[in-house]
Amino acid sequence: MMTSSLASEGKTTTISNIATIMTEQDKKILIIDLDLRKPAVHKQFNLSNNTGLTDLLLKKDDYKNYTKQVYPKLDVITSGKVPANPSEIVNSKALQDVIKELSFHYDYIFIDAPPIIAVSDPITIAKFSDAVILTIAYSNTEKELAKKAIDSLRSVNANIIGTILNKVPITKENKYYYSYY
Ligand SMILES: Nc1ncnc2c1ncn2[C@@H]1O[C@H](COP(=O)(O)OP(=O)(O)O)[C@@H](O)[C@H]1O
Ligand SMILES: [Mg+2]
Repeated sequence: MMTSSLASEGKTTTISNIATIMTEQDKKILIIDLDLRKPAVHKQFNLSNNTGLTDLLLKKDDYKNYTKQVYPKLDVITSGKVPANPSEIVNSKALQDVIKELSFHYDYIFIDAPPIIAVSDPITIAKFSDAVILTIAYSNTEKELAKKAIDSLRSVNANIIGTILNKVPITKENKYYYSYY
């Protein structure tokens, strides 16, 4: 799963990029939008969000009716209509059952989650995720806030496999690292 301390640190952008790049390793990948308060994965891939995860959980029919293929090895389940009770969905057994089923059909499932400081959803999601990646926006997120987010994740034994420092400005000094040579 992907999370961050605050909103707009770049979770959706980064998770979409990583998932896309990983398809080059011939892995079958699924992105699920579980940021139900601010769903945005559909925008990254120009998909309709008329139906998605919330419909799959309600109707309990074939998951394939709700996956959208964006590349040969990359599928997306958009959020679907945003419910009045996002936390109920995130805490539901139905969600865990669906993710368990999906795990048999994909090599990796990337979950786009809400930011940690805002709501408890990401901590719930961390409990059933194999690994957590934390995006931190350069010069935006106070250290204390990032530490707090990490502490919350550790309190549920989340497996933090890495952090991404995002939005680093390209200056004269560090330009070299971004150039092709
Ligand atoms: N590395 C980056 N450089 C510049 N802008 C970025 C970068 N990553 C994300 N953004 C922009 O920041 C905004 C928030 O990104 P988004 O991925 O939607 O964040 P989140 O999912 O954490 O709310 C978007 O407008 C996005 O285009
Ligand atoms: Mg987002």
